[in-house]
Amino acid sequence: GEESHTVDVDFSFEGPFGVYDQHQLQRGLQIYTEVCSACHGLRYVPYRTLSDEHGIGWTDDMVRAYAAQYEVFDPELDDYRTAIPTDHFGESSLSNAPDLSLMAKSRAGFHGPYGLGINQFFKGIGGPEHTYSILTGYTGETREQAGTVLYENHAFDSGWIAMPPPLTDGQVEFADGHDNSVESMSKDVSAFLMWAAEPKMMARKRAGFAGVLMLSVLAVLLYLTNKRIWKPIK
Ligand code: HEM
Repeated sequence: GEESHTVDVDFSFEGPFGVYDQHQLQRGLQIYTEVCSACHGLRYVPYRTLSDEHGIGWTDDMVRAYAAQYEVFDPELDDYRTAIPTDHFGESSLSNAPDLSLMAKSRAGFHGPYGLGINQFFKGIGGPEHTYSILTGYTGETREQAGTVLYENHAFDSGWIAMPPPLTDGQVEFADGHDNSVESMSKDVSAFLMWAAEPKMMARKRAGFAGVLMLSVLAVLLYLTNKRIWKPIK
Protein backbone atom coordinates (compact mmCIF):
# COMPACT_ATOMS: atom_id res chain seq x y z
CA GLY A 1 0.00 0.00 0.00
CA GLU A 2 0.79 3.66 0.33
CA GLU A 3 3.96 4.62 2.27
CA SER A 4 2.94 6.01 5.69
CA HIS A 5 3.63 9.68 5.93
CA THR A 6 4.32 11.95 8.89
CA VAL A 7 4.09 15.71 8.45
CA ASP A 8 6.64 17.88 10.29
CA VAL A 9 4.96 20.44 12.56
CA ASP A 10 6.70 23.33 14.32
CA PHE A 11 5.64 22.92 17.95
CA SER A 12 6.46 25.58 20.55
CA PHE A 13 8.10 22.97 22.80
CA GLU A 14 10.77 21.93 20.29
CA GLY A 15 14.45 22.89 20.57
CA PRO A 16 16.62 23.35 23.67
CA PHE A 17 14.59 26.36 24.90
CA GLY A 18 11.16 25.30 23.69
CA VAL A 19 8.24 25.63 26.11
CA TYR A 20 4.65 24.41 26.05
CA ASP A 21 2.11 26.98 24.88
CA GLN A 22 -0.28 27.06 27.83
CA HIS A 23 -3.28 28.21 25.81
CA GLN A 24 -2.66 25.50 23.22
CA LEU A 25 -2.55 22.85 25.98
CA GLN A 26 -5.81 24.19 27.42
CA ARG A 27 -7.48 23.93 24.01
CA GLY A 28 -6.00 20.44 23.62
CA LEU A 29 -7.45 19.37 26.96
CA GLN A 30 -10.85 20.67 25.86
CA ILE A 31 -10.64 18.71 22.59
CA TYR A 32 -9.50 15.59 24.44
CA THR A 33 -12.38 15.97 26.93
CA GLU A 34 -15.11 16.68 24.39
CA VAL A 35 -14.00 14.32 21.61
CA CYS A 36 -11.21 11.79 22.24
CA SER A 37 -12.26 10.70 25.73
CA ALA A 38 -15.43 9.16 24.27
CA CYS A 39 -13.20 6.22 23.26
CA HIS A 40 -9.67 6.74 24.63
CA GLY A 41 -8.30 6.90 28.15
CA LEU A 42 -5.38 8.68 29.86
CA ARG A 43 -5.06 6.30 32.76
CA TYR A 44 -1.49 7.21 33.82
CA VAL A 45 -2.25 10.94 34.09
CA PRO A 46 -3.47 12.22 37.49
CA TYR A 47 -5.92 15.16 37.40
CA ARG A 48 -3.70 17.06 39.84
CA THR A 49 -1.05 17.54 37.11
CA LEU A 50 -3.47 19.96 35.40
CA SER A 51 -2.27 22.58 37.88
CA ASP A 52 1.45 21.91 37.28
CA GLU A 53 3.73 24.73 36.27
CA HIS A 54 4.73 24.81 32.57
CA GLY A 55 1.60 22.83 31.67
CA ILE A 56 -2.12 23.54 31.60
CA GLY A 57 -1.61 25.96 34.50
CA TRP A 58 -5.05 25.61 36.09
CA THR A 59 -5.83 26.66 39.66
CA ASP A 60 -6.50 23.95 42.25
CA ASP A 61 -10.19 24.91 42.25
CA MET A 62 -10.43 24.37 38.50
CA VAL A 63 -8.77 20.96 38.85
CA ARG A 64 -11.16 19.98 41.65
CA ALA A 65 -14.18 21.04 39.56
CA TYR A 66 -12.89 19.14 36.51
CA ALA A 67 -12.27 15.94 38.48
CA ALA A 68 -15.70 16.20 40.13
CA GLN A 69 -17.36 15.61 36.73
CA TYR A 70 -16.13 12.01 36.87
CA GLU A 71 -16.66 8.93 38.99
CA VAL A 72 -13.96 6.44 39.91
CA PHE A 73 -14.16 3.04 41.49
CA ASP A 74 -12.68 3.12 44.99
CA PRO A 75 -11.55 -0.36 46.14
CA GLU A 76 -11.64 0.74 49.80
CA LEU A 77 -15.28 1.76 49.57
CA ASP A 78 -15.94 -1.10 47.16
CA ASP A 79 -18.06 1.44 45.31
CA TYR A 80 -17.93 4.38 42.90
CA ARG A 81 -17.35 7.89 44.22
CA THR A 82 -16.76 11.39 42.80
CA ALA A 83 -13.20 11.79 41.49
CA ILE A 84 -10.75 14.08 43.31
CA PRO A 85 -7.51 15.65 42.00
CA THR A 86 -5.31 12.72 43.08
CA ASP A 87 -7.34 10.30 40.94
CA HIS A 88 -6.38 9.59 37.37
CA PHE A 89 -8.16 10.26 34.08
CA GLY A 90 -10.37 7.37 33.01
CA GLU A 91 -9.34 4.33 31.00
CA SER A 92 -10.28 3.75 27.36
CA SER A 93 -13.98 2.96 27.15
CA LEU A 94 -13.66 1.40 23.71
CA SER A 95 -11.69 -1.84 23.97
CA ASN A 96 -9.72 -1.40 20.72
CA ALA A 97 -8.89 2.28 21.31
CA PRO A 98 -5.40 2.47 22.89
CA ASP A 99 -4.71 4.48 26.04
CA LEU A 100 -3.19 7.81 25.02
CA SER A 101 -1.09 8.55 28.17
CA LEU A 102 2.18 7.61 26.50
CA MET A 103 1.14 7.63 22.85
CA ALA A 104 3.24 10.71 22.02
CA LYS A 105 6.34 8.83 23.16
CA SER A 106 5.52 5.38 21.85
CA ARG A 107 5.32 6.33 18.18
CA ALA A 108 8.19 7.63 16.04
CA GLY A 109 7.21 9.85 13.14
CA PHE A 110 10.68 10.24 11.67
CA HIS A 111 13.27 7.62 10.85
CA GLY A 112 16.65 7.23 9.18
CA PRO A 113 18.11 7.74 6.75
CA TYR A 114 19.74 4.31 6.87
CA GLY A 115 19.64 4.08 10.67
CA LEU A 116 21.75 7.23 11.05
CA GLY A 117 19.04 9.15 12.87
CA ILE A 118 19.75 12.40 10.98
CA ASN A 119 16.04 13.01 10.47
CA GLN A 120 15.34 12.54 14.19
CA PHE A 121 18.22 14.86 15.04
CA PHE A 122 16.77 17.71 13.00
CA LYS A 123 13.03 17.08 13.29
CA GLY A 124 12.71 15.23 16.62
CA ILE A 125 11.32 11.75 17.12
CA GLY A 126 7.98 12.86 15.77
CA GLY A 127 5.54 11.49 18.35
CA PRO A 128 3.20 14.49 18.37
CA GLU A 129 3.65 14.81 14.59
CA HIS A 130 2.48 11.21 14.24
CA THR A 131 -0.76 12.04 16.10
CA TYR A 132 -1.21 15.23 14.07
CA SER A 133 -0.62 13.34 10.84
CA ILE A 134 -3.14 10.62 11.72
CA LEU A 135 -5.80 13.19 12.61
CA THR A 136 -5.27 15.06 9.34
CA GLY A 137 -4.35 12.03 7.20
CA TYR A 138 -7.79 10.65 6.25
CA THR A 139 -8.54 10.35 2.56
CA GLY A 140 -12.28 9.77 2.95
CA GLU A 141 -12.05 6.20 1.59
CA THR A 142 -13.51 3.39 3.72
CA ARG A 143 -13.66 -0.37 3.46
CA GLU A 144 -15.06 -3.19 5.51
CA GLN A 145 -12.91 -6.02 6.80
CA ALA A 146 -14.24 -8.86 8.95
CA GLY A 147 -17.17 -6.73 10.04
CA THR A 148 -15.05 -3.70 10.98
CA VAL A 149 -15.08 -0.46 9.02
CA LEU A 150 -11.56 0.75 8.21
CA TYR A 151 -10.72 4.28 7.16
CA GLU A 152 -7.93 5.01 4.73
CA ASN A 153 -5.24 7.11 6.41
CA HIS A 154 -1.83 7.89 4.92
CA ALA A 155 -0.15 8.42 8.29
CA PHE A 156 -1.12 5.01 9.67
CA ASP A 157 1.34 2.17 9.03
CA SER A 158 -1.07 -0.23 7.33
CA GLY A 159 -2.80 2.63 5.49
CA TRP A 160 -6.20 1.66 7.01
CA ILE A 161 -7.16 2.61 10.58
CA ALA A 162 -10.08 1.47 12.73
CA MET A 163 -10.58 4.98 14.18
CA PRO A 164 -13.26 6.98 12.37
CA PRO A 165 -12.09 10.56 11.57
CA PRO A 166 -12.65 12.08 15.03
CA LEU A 167 -12.49 15.79 14.14
CA THR A 168 -14.51 17.99 11.81
CA ASP A 169 -14.07 21.71 11.17
CA GLY A 170 -15.74 23.83 13.87
CA GLN A 171 -16.56 20.85 16.11
CA VAL A 172 -15.14 22.28 19.35
CA GLU A 173 -15.90 25.89 20.33
CA PHE A 174 -13.20 27.74 22.27
CA ALA A 175 -14.15 30.46 24.74
CA ASP A 176 -11.75 32.92 23.06
CA GLY A 177 -12.99 32.07 19.55
CA HIS A 178 -9.68 30.46 18.58
CA ASP A 179 -9.30 28.71 15.18
CA ASN A 180 -11.15 25.37 15.26
CA SER A 181 -10.27 23.97 11.87
CA VAL A 182 -9.30 20.29 11.80
CA GLU A 183 -5.62 21.28 11.27
CA SER A 184 -5.57 23.68 14.20
CA MET A 185 -7.39 21.33 16.59
CA SER A 186 -5.13 18.46 15.52
CA LYS A 187 -2.08 20.52 16.47
CA ASP A 188 -3.61 21.50 19.80
CA VAL A 189 -4.59 17.98 20.86
CA SER A 190 -1.22 16.57 19.70
CA ALA A 191 0.58 19.16 21.84
CA PHE A 192 -1.69 18.22 24.76
CA LEU A 193 -0.84 14.53 24.36
CA MET A 194 2.88 15.39 24.29
CA TRP A 195 2.38 17.21 27.59
CA ALA A 196 0.47 14.22 29.00
CA ALA A 197 3.37 11.89 28.13
CA GLU A 198 6.13 14.30 29.19
CA PRO A 199 4.77 16.84 31.71
CA LYS A 200 8.25 17.71 33.02
CA MET A 201 9.80 18.42 29.63
CA MET A 202 10.75 22.02 30.50
CA ALA A 203 12.48 20.97 33.73
CA ARG A 204 14.37 18.28 31.82
CA LYS A 205 15.53 20.73 29.20
CA ARG A 206 16.69 23.17 31.87
CA ALA A 207 18.61 20.45 33.74
CA GLY A 208 20.17 19.29 30.47
CA PHE A 209 21.25 22.82 29.60
CA ALA A 210 22.76 23.38 33.06
CA GLY A 211 24.62 20.09 32.63
CA VAL A 212 26.08 21.09 29.26
CA LEU A 213 27.08 24.47 30.69
CA MET A 214 28.84 22.91 33.68
CA LEU A 215 30.67 20.41 31.51
CA SER A 216 31.82 23.27 29.25
CA VAL A 217 33.23 25.19 32.21
CA LEU A 218 34.87 21.99 33.45
CA ALA A 219 36.43 21.41 30.03
CA VAL A 220 38.00 24.89 30.05
CA LEU A 221 39.33 24.41 33.60
CA LEU A 222 40.82 21.02 32.71
CA TYR A 223 42.44 22.49 29.63
CA LEU A 224 44.07 25.26 31.70
CA THR A 225 45.12 22.82 34.43
CA ASN A 226 46.66 20.53 31.85
CA LYS A 227 48.69 23.42 30.37
CA ARG A 228 49.93 24.37 33.81
CA ILE A 229 50.96 20.85 34.83
CA TRP A 230 53.01 20.29 31.68
CA LYS A 231 54.52 23.79 31.56
CA PRO A 232 57.89 22.90 33.23
CA ILE A 233 58.48 20.05 30.76
CA LYS A 234 57.67 21.92 27.53
C1 HEM B 1 -6.22 4.96 17.59
C2 HEM B 1 -5.81 9.66 18.76
C3 HEM B 1 -10.64 10.03 18.99
C4 HEM B 1 -11.01 5.24 18.31
C5 HEM B 1 -5.69 6.21 17.88
C6 HEM B 1 -4.29 6.53 17.86
C7 HEM B 1 -4.17 7.85 18.18
C8 HEM B 1 -5.50 8.36 18.40
C9 HEM B 1 -2.89 8.68 18.30
C10 HEM B 1 -3.15 5.54 17.63
C11 HEM B 1 -2.66 5.47 16.23
C12 HEM B 1 -1.50 4.51 16.17
O1 HEM B 1 -1.63 3.35 16.62
O2 HEM B 1 -0.44 4.90 15.70
C13 HEM B 1 -7.08 10.17 18.92
C14 HEM B 1 -7.37 11.55 19.22
C15 HEM B 1 -8.72 11.66 19.26
C16 HEM B 1 -9.27 10.34 19.02
C17 HEM B 1 -6.33 12.63 19.47
C18 HEM B 1 -9.55 12.91 19.47
C19 HEM B 1 -9.30 14.02 18.70
C20 HEM B 1 -11.16 8.77 18.85
C21 HEM B 1 -12.57 8.44 18.91
C22 HEM B 1 -12.67 7.09 18.72
C23 HEM B 1 -11.33 6.57 18.53
C24 HEM B 1 -13.67 9.45 19.20
C25 HEM B 1 -13.92 6.20 18.70
C26 HEM B 1 -14.98 6.57 17.94
C27 HEM B 1 -9.75 4.75 18.04
C28 HEM B 1 -9.45 3.37 17.70
C29 HEM B 1 -8.07 3.29 17.47
C30 HEM B 1 -7.54 4.62 17.70
C31 HEM B 1 -10.47 2.24 17.61
C32 HEM B 1 -7.25 2.04 17.04
C33 HEM B 1 -7.08 2.12 15.54
C34 HEM B 1 -6.33 0.96 14.91
O3 HEM B 1 -5.43 0.42 15.56
O4 HEM B 1 -6.67 0.61 13.75
N1 HEM B 1 -6.41 7.34 18.20
N2 HEM B 1 -8.25 9.46 18.80
N3 HEM B 1 -10.44 7.61 18.61
N4 HEM B 1 -8.59 5.48 18.02
FE1 HEM B 1 -8.43 7.45 18.37
